[in-house]
Amino acid sequence: MKINMDVIIRDDNPLLREKSVDVTLPLSAEDKELLTAMITYVRDSRDEELAEKENLRPAVGLAAPQVGVLKRMIAVVVDEWKNDDEVILHEFALVNPRIVAHSEAKSMLSNGEGCLSVDEVIEGYVPRFARIRVRGYDLLREQHVEIKAHGYLSIVLQHEIDHLNGIMFYDHINKEEPWKPIENALLID
Ligand code: CO
Repeated sequence: MKINMDVIIRDDNPLLREKSVDVTLPLSAEDKELLTAMITYVRDSRDEELAEKENLRPAVGLAAPQVGVLKRMIAVVVDEWKNDDEVILHEFALVNPRIVAHSEAKSMLSNGEGCLSVDEVIEGYVPRFARIRVRGYDLLREQHVEIKAHGYLSIVLQHEIDHLNGIMFYDHINKEEPWKPIENALLID
């Protein structure tokens, strides 16, 4: 199976508002194939040439409901810049991810969020937990993992896990005042 922007459903599709179901482990061949296609999409979308050729919008994450499959699986590929010249690549293909702990403190992207299933730009802060701990089965490592995430990775994981619960990023935006500052929230560039 190959995922590209023709396969990804948009937010006019009611499936994106459904709650996804847990996936049985060990993974079936079908689920493994889907999750592999999902992580492949996110990885390939980072390559400008490949993205252009294969109709992939650049992404940092993808959730199974976005291809119309209501199963709790997400793929995430995020660069974390340590200094100007040092980057750590975070890659996960998670099954049944759940947030087991989170900070009180919030953080949000200074320019707001986007989504492969949302064609227009929707402006506003999307407040998220600044730090989370996520547990799930990771297909890339073929084992259960616990991820301690902060910064951009934390935001991306929360965005993708939201999809498994039928929640879109703009649900979190203050409708009256989209860019209203949130006290003590960390802004991430
Ligand atoms: Co999304």
